[in-house]
Amino acid sequence: TVSLKNAFSGDFYIGTALDESQIEEKDPKVTKLISTEFNAITSENIMKSMFVHPEKDKFNFETTDKYVAFGKKHKMFIHGHTLIWHSQLPKWFSEIKDSAEMNAALENHITTIVKKYKGQIDSWDVVNEAVNDDGSLRKSVFLKVLGEDFIAKSFQLAAAADPKVDLYYNDYSMTNPAKREGVIRMVKKIQEKGVKIDGIGMQGHWHLDSPKIEEIEKSIIAYSNLGVKVSITELDVSVLPSPYGLQGADVSQRFENNEKMNPYPKTLPDSMQVKLAQRYNEIFKLFLKHKDKISRVTFWGVNDSQSWLNNFPIRGRTDYPLLFDTNLEPKKAYYQVLSLK
Ligand code: XIL
Repeated sequence: TVSLKNAFSGDFYIGTALDESQIEEKDPKVTKLISTEFNAITSENIMKSMFVHPEKDKFNFETTDKYVAFGKKHKMFIHGHTLIWHSQLPKWFSEIKDSAEMNAALENHITTIVKKYKGQIDSWDVVNEAVNDDGSLRKSVFLKVLGEDFIAKSFQLAAAADPKVDLYYNDYSMTNPAKREGVIRMVKKIQEKGVKIDGIGMQGHWHLDSPKIEEIEKSIIAYSNLGVKVSITELDVSVLPSPYGLQGADVSQRFENNEKMNPYPKTLPDSMQVKLAQRYNEIFKLFLKHKDKISRVTFWGVNDSQSWLNNFPIRGRTDYPLLFDTNLEPKKAYYQVLSLK
């Protein structure tokens, strides 16, 4: 059958993020689409600390067990997202001030989860979004309490819990030159300590005209030169104007009726479908050019109705960033990507 996963099977995994309703197979049409088109999955939310580790002494593995079972049933590559992240962090974790307590929490969190899925989960995002756009380290609770050692320490703990699983650093704006330098510095420090890091995840929350293909290419090459795998981990292409910098834009507001913020509230016009297809065309052409460096390309969601961009960075806006539309039908961009093979 013609599908994304079959078309790119000799090149890299084709993945999707799964939310709770998709994991629980609430809609058989959705399950069918996922199993036909994708051979890798990422947990969109359920592995995040606020869900999996809501209280200091309580883990919640109900949905994560279903997630792993889903991946096994469909013979997929299973990625875990994410162990250490400043966001979607439960209160008990974010309020720790003492370094011994933070070290113990980090160890318990990482060791318990990674051991539980040892040999079942194929790769982990160990640390997510620890670097700022200017290349400095983000002042998260982890940095404040433990200093930059928390990064190498997290990788070390994960490697000890499952020596065979692939360990990733994952972040956004990975094509921005200053950030790229910062990430490379950080990864080199991990490597110089003799700590295992296997991959770098470039999130890929991209737009029609940015980042430039040349910058994406520079990043793929630069990260690969560190001797690690590169994956595109959270791919979606927003067709909407970025609200940042637009005068008077308050990103916490809803903009349903504001044409500047939400120019295509009902459907994406044909001319824009073509633009999106062209953008995906140049992006996948580049991935194919560097297929020797890329191990997985994962979309951040299955189809447009379910994309997080409908609520980010402003709530209630309709975006059209994926290859399948709100009716689960393939878009022009889908056929464009397939036509490269
Ligand atoms: C997003 C999810 O898609 C949303 O459902 C959730 O409300 C917020 O998080 N970078 C990441 C992902 O690493 O975990 C984020 O996922 C998107 C940005």
